[in-house]
Amino acid sequence: MKRYLVTGAAGFIGANFLKYLLKKYEEDIYVVVLDKLTYAGNLGTIKDEIADSRVRFVKGDIRNAELVANIFAETDIDYVVNFAAESHVDRSIANPQLFLETNILGTQNMLDCARKAWYRGKDSEGKPLYAEGKKFLQVSTDEVYGSLSKDYTDPQPLEITDADVRKVVTGRTDLHTYGKRFFTETTPLDPRSPYSASKTSADMFVRAYHETYGMPVNITRCSNNYGPYHFPEKLIPLIIKNILAGQKLPVYGKGDNVRDWLYVEDHAKAIDAVLERGRIGEVYNVGGFNEEQNINIVKLIIDIIARIMREEPEYRRVLKTDVKNINEDLITFVGDRPGHDMRYAIDPSKIARELGWYPETPFTVGIEKTVRWYLDHQDWVDEVVSGDYQKYYEQMY
Ligand code: NAD
Ligand code: DAU
Repeated sequence: MKRYLVTGAAGFIGANFLKYLLKKYEEDIYVVVLDKLTYAGNLGTIKDEIADSRVRFVKGDIRNAELVANIFAETDIDYVVNFAAESHVDRSIANPQLFLETNILGTQNMLDCARKAWYRGKDSEGKPLYAEGKKFLQVSTDEVYGSLSKDYTDPQPLEITDADVRKVVTGRTDLHTYGKRFFTETTPLDPRSPYSASKTSADMFVRAYHETYGMPVNITRCSNNYGPYHFPEKLIPLIIKNILAGQKLPVYGKGDNVRDWLYVEDHAKAIDAVLERGRIGEVYNVGGFNEEQNINIVKLIIDIIARIMREEPEYRRVLKTDVKNINEDLITFVGDRPGHDMRYAIDPSKIARELGWYPETPFTVGIEKTVRWYLDHQDWVDEVVSGDYQKYYEQMY
């Protein structure tokens, strides 16, 4: 029986991870969820899970030392999975301090509480000892590595071969569409936004707790996730929501920035693999080998929704616009994000080689599933945009 403390599980990736865990482990699991329920956290997303006797929900802040210490005192936690964070780059530009407070101070508090709960004295050589089988996993991001250029001339050999990846991700055959260099775990950290600066600092604290106090930790650095329960401030769910409403589709700059998209359940599987088999103290990159320019993502989603509306007219009930308005005329190029990173591309060879994890979901399959999930869950969208979202949207666009 493993006992998890999962922070931020009312948000996008945390909720998908929680659902995945409960399905996979059935009886052998107990999960304490700690979430502050910020604008990005929604209890409705995990209502079935928190009603499950294997789950306890605690509403609270990862910065609250007393609250977190009490959780460790009440439950013998084996794994901490720290998702809780302010996660949106645009919001970090408007309010950097909140990102510093949540992402850095919050992570350090979680580390400190875990350290105190798990510490078991020193061995004969003065090395700190921790209770058996414990691990603190920090959910980090590829953004800590900064921005890659879109060069075609400076190849970096990948440890994983194109052929290996073709075996598992049938939608992609060329891994070098937008550039030859990738982020590996040894790429120097080079954050450029307040969000990525705060995530990098948090990673450095995780490393410091490992090096200084001998804490059992892992860090995962994942590329852009997409899938169900993604908050509609992020590109993919925002575009789906706006298409259905017949609203303009805001594309920053020229739309040629590149992101590497990974289906969220594949990320959940990667975190599970690192918890179970990751070597203590190691960083693991997680990515989809699925680079695409933003403008192509937007056009693809327009195509998918237009096709579904044509072929399955019963779905037109979710449209707030006429079906003939669903076309590329909705695209509008808006001012660029300040300091907008040009390209992210992860090389996940290490996790593939050491832990046997691969991105499993071809993008064509994952994006179709995601669009259909949103068509079928407009009630969820209406719920999450009912608060301060409108104010945010009007300020942004
Ligand atoms: P999200 O914004 O959807 O969810 C964040 C969750 O954290 C929400 O439930 C929110 O209520 C909670 N939270 C925020 N501040 C808190 C606090 N002080 N105390 C307790 N709970 C708090 O984020 P997401 O997209 O699911 O990302 C989860 C994690 O994964 C983040 O750490 C993010 O940096 C990382 N990450 C995200 C992506 C991505 O593509 N979304 C990719 C790589 C890594
Ligand atoms: O790479 C991992 C990161 O991916 C995570 O660490 C972050 O938490 C997550 O938010 C995401 O960051 P991005 O900034 O890449 O995601 P976002 O969806 O905000 O934007 C994706 C791309 O689309 C980016 O190049 C900016 C662009 N964009 C975004 C929005 C919201 C637009 O062109 N228009 C938009 O309206």
